[in-house]
Amino acid sequence: MKKTQLIALLNRDMTDEHAAIIRYLVHAWMEGEDTPIGASLLSRSREEMWHMHWLGMSIGQLGGEPNFTPAPYPYDPTNRATIFKSYVEYEEKLVPHYNGEADMVDDPHIKRVLQREAWESAIHARKFQRILKKLTPEQARTAPGGEMEIPVEFINLLQREVTSKYNEMLQHVRYSWVFQKNGLRSWQLMDQAMEKMKQLAHFAEDIGGNGMPPQFKPGKIDLSRVMAKAIFKSADDALKSHRRHLKLKKDPEVNKHGGLVINLDLTIQQEQYQAEELKDMEKK
Ligand SMILES: [Fe+2]
Ligand SMILES: [Fe+2]
Repeated sequence: MKKTQLIALLNRDMTDEHAAIIRYLVHAWMEGEDTPIGASLLSRSREEMWHMHWLGMSIGQLGGEPNFTPAPYPYDPTNRATIFKSYVEYEEKLVPHYNGEADMVDDPHIKRVLQREAWESAIHARKFQRILKKLTPEQARTAPGGEMEIPVEFINLLQREVTSKYNEMLQHVRYSWVFQKNGLRSWQLMDQAMEKMKQLAHFAEDIGGNGMPPQFKPGKIDLSRVMAKAIFKSADDALKSHRRHLKLKKDPEVNKHGGLVINLDLTIQQEQYQAEELKDMEKK
């Protein structure tokens, strides 16, 4: 297989893994992270993050440009029974798909990754099947979400924060894959990406907990191939959101939500740390 074909293949798979991450995350937040179903979905989502990461690392190594637009994740949203049935079908379809691709690829690492994505998809199907069987009649009959307590304008504000953290996070994931030959620096950028993932959750949890699905809207991604430029942009983004969140802390609506106040305090301190780290990287 030609290198460009291999990059295209990995990129297509990555859009599916990206879709699965989002689907299971959003569903988890709507169930609540501390419920058995929510915790299990979070765990699946983390495994999908690995899947996406392995594909992205290979794309970066091959000199390709990662595609960060998620594919659609088809599912029947009627109730939990139909939702989990859709998940089982989705994961089951991936098993022959990944095995077929693994057979076409020569690179031993990429072959192993594709085979692993096949057998882990089979495990995911079994896990979802198990949840499906254990649903109570009430759970099976209903869908998660619905109980609105937070004003819509405030949800929109949280949603804007989710969108900006999501895109900053993708940005840093891209940097770390594309600049992986720079070793330590790309590790530090992945570290930044992981922080942003956590911060994204700080806002998304509240949207999901309010019975609304948090939206993941991909925006414009910085495509610099020059690391110094990337670090400069990264430091600037961290500072901008730090300032925005200092202002948000004074919002009377924020102060009505104890959990969010704690998460916002954490985010603000983390952003300061991130900005200082990046400023140091800039100097070097
Ligand atoms: Fe996967
Ligand atoms: Fe999966």
